[in-house]
Amino acid sequence: MNDFADYTEIGCGIYQSRASPAGQASNASNASQTRLATVSRQEDGGGQEFQVWDFRHSKLAALILKGYIPQITESSLVLYLGAASGSTASHISDIVQNGLVYVLEFSPTVMKKLISRCESRPNMIPIFADANHPERYSYLVDKVDLIYQDIAQRNQAEIALANAEYFLKDDGYLILMIKARSIDSTADTKEIFKKEVEELQKRLSILKTVKLPGYRDHLAVIARGRSSAATDPTADSTASAPTRQP
Ligand SMILES: C[S@@+](CC[C@H](N)C(=O)[O-])C[C@H]1O[C@@H](n2cnc3c(N)ncnc32)[C@H](O)[C@@H]1O
Repeated sequence: MNDFADYTEIGCGIYQSRASPAGQASNASNASQTRLATVSRQEDGGGQEFQVWDFRHSKLAALILKGYIPQITESSLVLYLGAASGSTASHISDIVQNGLVYVLEFSPTVMKKLISRCESRPNMIPIFADANHPERYSYLVDKVDLIYQDIAQRNQAEIALANAEYFLKDDGYLILMIKARSIDSTADTKEIFKKEVEELQKRLSILKTVKLPGYRDHLAVIARGRSSAATDPTADSTASAPTRQP
């Protein structure tokens, strides 16, 4: 349990320790001095509690430390692909307290832990399915404001596009955490990222690509449907396939 006074809100229900201004953590060493948290509300109205959000166990927290605040609100709908036991998803559930997080996982062992976490969080909806087959869970999931994907498979971009086609609202966002070594264990990482981003660009507009502090061989890609990205104020007009990453 942490003291609220140590933290300041940096946007959409995400808190950061006062000593470390938002977006200042450009590397793992800066990030390790920075603390993030969300606020979990008790179901019975019995108060609220800070849930510390460790960037070492959450790529989304690492992305936020690089200054990207996800475009979600209290009432957003989120589809989370590759939820594991629901650790990062539980922070999203804190943020979208009047919305929903559909948490999808295909490992039976991990799914048990995920279901038990969902029991105390009514806005987390567990789905036991393979993300390669959105048609199998399309009857369960509404159109969403955000698809967040953290899946270590060879066809990460393909999975993201298939799910975006089924579930992403016209003005919705995709945050894809690409793990290069799951796609190819030997090829040049930059080439892998470039190919994956080019694949996404066939159907989506890339707003940003971000290297994450503390995660080697990972790239966060933030994308949006083509029609809405044209007027998106958060778009990085220079974003394209990441041939050169810092
Ligand atoms: C890196 S872990 C996710 C960690 C989690 N995002 C977090 O931050 O708490 C990746 C998860 O994706 C799941 N996964 C991999 N391929 C999948 C697929 N095709 N469909 C659904 N889940 C998948 C794995 O079982 C694993 O639990």
